[in-house]
Amino acid sequence: MSDAVIRSKEGRIGILTINNPPVNALAAAVRAGIKEGVEAFGQDSSVDAIVLIGGGRTFIAGADIREFGKPPSGPNLNDVISTMENSPKLIVAALHGTPLGGGLETALGAHYRVSLPTTRMGLPEVHLGLLPGAGGTQRLPRLTGAKYALDAMLSGRHIPAPEAKSKGIVDAIVEGDLLKGAIAHAEMLLAQKAPLRRVRDLTVNLESPDLFAETEKSIARKARGFKAPWNIIKTVQAAVELPFDEGMKRERELFSELLTSSESAAQRYYFFAEREAAKVKDVPADTPQREIKTGGIIGAGTMGGGIAMNFANAGVPVTLLETSQEALDRGLKTIRTNYENTAKRGGMKAEDVEKRMALITPTLDYNALKDADVIIEAVFETMEVKEVVFKKLDEVAKPGAILATNTSGLDVNQIASYTKRPGDVIGMHFFSPANVMKLLENVRGKATEKDVIATVMSFSKKIGKIPVLVGVCEGFVGNRMLRMRGIQSAYMMEEGALPQQIDKVVYDYGFPMGPFAMSDLAGNDVGWRIRQGKNEKEKRNVRYTGYVADAICELGRFGQKTGSGYYKYNLPDRTPIPDPEVEKIIEETSKKLGITRRAISDQEILERALYPMVNEGAKILEEGMAQRSLDIDVIWVNGYGWPVYRGGPMWWADNVVGLKTIHDALLKYRDASGDPFWEPAPLLKKLVQEGKKFSSV
Ligand code: 3HC
Ligand code: NAI
Repeated sequence: MSDAVIRSKEGRIGILTINNPPVNALAAAVRAGIKEGVEAFGQDSSVDAIVLIGGGRTFIAGADIREFGKPPSGPNLNDVISTMENSPKLIVAALHGTPLGGGLETALGAHYRVSLPTTRMGLPEVHLGLLPGAGGTQRLPRLTGAKYALDAMLSGRHIPAPEAKSKGIVDAIVEGDLLKGAIAHAEMLLAQKAPLRRVRDLTVNLESPDLFAETEKSIARKARGFKAPWNIIKTVQAAVELPFDEGMKRERELFSELLTSSESAAQRYYFFAEREAAKVKDVPADTPQREIKTGGIIGAGTMGGGIAMNFANAGVPVTLLETSQEALDRGLKTIRTNYENTAKRGGMKAEDVEKRMALITPTLDYNALKDADVIIEAVFETMEVKEVVFKKLDEVAKPGAILATNTSGLDVNQIASYTKRPGDVIGMHFFSPANVMKLLENVRGKATEKDVIATVMSFSKKIGKIPVLVGVCEGFVGNRMLRMRGIQSAYMMEEGALPQQIDKVVYDYGFPMGPFAMSDLAGNDVGWRIRQGKNEKEKRNVRYTGYVADAICELGRFGQKTGSGYYKYNLPDRTPIPDPEVEKIIEETSKKLGITRRAISDQEILERALYPMVNEGAKILEEGMAQRSLDIDVIWVNGYGWPVYRGGPMWWADNVVGLKTIHDALLKYRDASGDPFWEPAPLLKKLVQEGKKFSSV
């Protein structure tokens, strides 16, 4: 008998307790243990019914994702589940925690299911680029009807127990001790001589004959580029149209297709990457952390307001400091409006608006920050203002308080030097809108203490962020790489491409929008003002990229907010419309620069937009500005919309394009242009020579 599933008995009930921490994933030993346990109790005349329950924090949370792609070992999950379904003894699955994926599928092989009120269950395989491959696509529709099951599998959402009960996914919710409740339920069923109810014997309710066509239409935009959602629809269609065993065969085929796809490989990689990114190599998990009970934020503008909302959403009281009552009122008004809009859309309860607002205390007085455990500065982006603020913080903040800056481009080490406690200073680079965007680049200064890093990484998760630790360099990781795409996009425009052509290539690759549509959304004037601040010498250091951008801004075309930029907009509709006037500006610019415009292929656009980013990623890795290539991928997927089914720039380079292809293309463009921009990073050269990947660094 394996330790992964422990057998015991209570009266005439046989109990199988799964014991595979932390989440009872269905490793080979668990599958074998369940099958053997069900068979053994099946033959045991002292057992009348079986309860299957998870030990520890959850029922089975799914297949063991690390086993995918490895040679199969142990019994197949489908065999385990049919052994349960065909058991001569009645089986009750007792669900707590998060029965997900193969976990819920296993439960659907039981004859009955009970759960705690707090249980959240679901079929989230879609997030791994997969579909439920152990009968979930055939059994769930039989319980809930096709429409609900489709929605559950396409969203992958966690279904709360009361909803699961109302849909017939669980039969009863038990309060208190789950095992006791499950045993009582089994005894009750035995007393009633309840049948061994097999979900496979039920028929599927198809609510509307148009369900599948309509669903395909409704997901078209969101599921663009993904494979799994489309296959999920096909499996449910099979559940409706085919007998159970044939439906299962169809499920297997469509599952295998996904399992071997590069999209699923990327998404499974990403699942672990996101978890790994939260870990810091030289800061052990047991590093003592500082306690964060209250926060402070300096500046109630675009970023400060959003950051304050993150604190309030997590129930952490925060003091918001500004220079004038007017700025403070403006900031609070924006926060309130954001909350009220969320409540109107049903995203939060109306009464919670006041509760969250009550957690944000406005102030004009630095003394109000003296008890704050973490203080985040989000004032104007100039070193002079940061200097004033950090000197002041050094005076008022209590010893041990963490002092963070949200700067997007200034030197965190210099900012730290304005205090007598640089070890307590760290960068927390939020992305706009800060209350929405999940990515948080935490910037480690040269003096930042390890416990400050540990505290900030875990606090980031508490306020709902996905944190990645980066080093001090211009633009940190995300914006530094983005710049490479921007430079080449500008050059390609001067050489012959139009914004709409470049944007289409980037969009078709899977980004939510291309660089020009993005610039129009963010405001073209931001970069224009920065360029105006630079002197002519700085401009000439590298070939200037702002010729077209400047001409566009000089006409007041700041983007969506002014109704025109690289595109025209018929506001309030935000669809970008190509504009002949912009085409004229671009052509004139090329002429002025003495460039004869030429047709640029989509392939060239893709390579010139994305390969320099990978090359910059290599430099970032080599300089230690990111800990691992996966950190760079997490930044790009979360902060900039790199399609997750392509894994992120570094995974894509490693596994789809190949480093040698990228290296050789860089040389080709270098030789054609004579531009040192294209020089492959030393690390890239080295890895190509050694036949290794970024993931090996
Ligand atoms: N396989 C292998 N490892 C898993 C795992 C799984 N299914 N689920 C979680 N883990 C690991 C995590 O990597 C992490 O490891 P670490 O401590 O070494 O970093 C550890 O378990 C704890 O996970 P979290 O940090 O995510 O813990 P949380 O408490 O925040 O979340 C959870 C728990 C909700 C269960 C979350 O881990 C999760 O969503 N897991 C994935 C669930 C899932 O997708 N299941 C379906 C799998 S595919 C499938 O079943 C196919 C089937 O249809 C055939
Ligand atoms: P903003 O101009 O919207 O807000 C800045 C606020 O700081 C203003 O309300 C201003 O009154 C206040 N302020 C100025 N000096 C102050 C002082 N001495 N004390 C207290 N308050 C003061 O600017 P935004 O966009 O919020 O940017 C703030 C910081 O966040 C900058 O460092 C910026 O680089 C960074 N950042 C901005 C992002 C963005 O997309 N806007 C993204 C990531 C970082």
